Amino acid sequence: MKVLVVGGGGREHALCWKLNASPKVSEVLCAPGNAGTLKVARNVAIGVDEHEQLVQLCRSERVDLVLIGPEDPLVAGLADEIRAAGILCFGPGADGARLEGSKVFTKELLERHRIPTAGWRRFDRAGAAKAYLEQCTQWPQVVKADGLAAGKGVFICDAVEEASRVVDSLMEERSLGEAGNEVVIEECLIGDEVSIHAITDGSTLLVLDAVMDHKQVGDGDTGPNTGGMGVTSPVPALNGRLMRQIEQRVLLPTLHALRTDGISFRGVLFVGLMITEAGPRVLEFNCRFGDPEIQAIVRRMKGDLAPILQATARGELKDQTAPEWSQEPCVGVVVASEGYPGRYTTGHRISGLEAAEQVDEVVVFHAGTRGAADDVRTDGGRVLCVTALGQDSEAARMRAYEGVSRIGWEGMFCRSDIGLRRRKAVVTEEQSASYDG
Ligand code: AMP
Ligand code: GLY
Repeated sequence: MKVLVVGGGGREHALCWKLNASPKVSEVLCAPGNAGTLKVARNVAIGVDEHEQLVQLCRSERVDLVLIGPEDPLVAGLADEIRAAGILCFGPGADGARLEGSKVFTKELLERHRIPTAGWRRFDRAGAAKAYLEQCTQWPQVVKADGLAAGKGVFICDAVEEASRVVDSLMEERSLGEAGNEVVIEECLIGDEVSIHAITDGSTLLVLDAVMDHKQVGDGDTGPNTGGMGVTSPVPALNGRLMRQIEQRVLLPTLHALRTDGISFRGVLFVGLMITEAGPRVLEFNCRFGDPEIQAIVRRMKGDLAPILQATARGELKDQTAPEWSQEPCVGVVVASEGYPGRYTTGHRISGLEAAEQVDEVVVFHAGTRGAADDVRTDGGRVLCVTALGQDSEAARMRAYEGVSRIGWEGMFCRSDIGLRRRKAVVTEEQSASYDG
């Protein structure tokens, strides 16, 4: 089968890499792709927002399956347009993508179906939001823009002045545009954050191994939130019982909620959870694979992803068996441009990419790059994700950082503590048993 992957970041490189290894896939196209996808796919210079051209491409190339990587085209209805043209597509329509596109939509759905999440309030006026903050006694509080903001719309605020400034910036100064038309203010949850992906055709769920992202830009989880600065998988704190709870209390009720609303969701439900001392709580839903989470997933997933994606798009996921996983942990370190998640410059020449991949079990996924072969340039905030497997997480970590040390460009940086995080809420089998009651 011929597959088109829509997008041009680290997630899409990882997906192209995995699909290119499938005996069932004759060719992978990537639109628009980057300097990394070039090696495992044929790049086509069409942007993710050029829906008509993408549908045309599917027709002229006789594409059998489309996989939409990023959230923006999903929220904008690209999957609906592709399916309307009679082409199989992995990714929800605009209705299902609201799970990521609107925090208010998701919080209301969670509340209606009693799915555990942080206590919250919504506001469409800055004055009311600030009045509410004035009378909060519990701090920190979390202020979130309702709409899409590439991971930059969430602010954990320690005091009322800071939170009020965020409200002004979002709602009065419109720092994130329409995304700040409404805000959600939430209680701050404490615990271990995990990313769970469940592939679904709207009826069957196929839950993938857990991943832990590192959202904050600085070592020791300091500084502003980013799209993700590094990953580890598996997550030892998530024992079998906790995974079953997440499936029973979060994933299945969410699927039921979507069906009740008449939404046929064919793609991946990616839920960000906080494992608190009182059990798992939903932080957010996304309607696509995590980036850099998928980089760790494809490194550890054995077997073929292509038939699973195709069966999902057809609504025949129940016929698929769950994939097996490498016992070896994966550590992935994101290497970024100085200044990210704020302003940064691009166009810097990257050296050492081949040398990095000469380290045992290291694969470098490109996130924000352009150019080719011996002249690869930076082209984004997050530039690369250097992944490694190892017999234990320490071995994987050492390899990943050895890979990073061989790479260079002017102004590159990464966190130095990926894979070292100490757990905040250690959940034992006995404790997780008590949540069942
Ligand atoms: P979101 O886009 O809603 O997942 O938020 C981005 C990140 O902010 C999450 O991955 C968490 O690290 C953090 N976060 C969001 N909501 C909360 C909350 N209620 N309590 C603590 N941290 C949060
Ligand atoms: N790494 C988090 C995300 O993809 O949203």
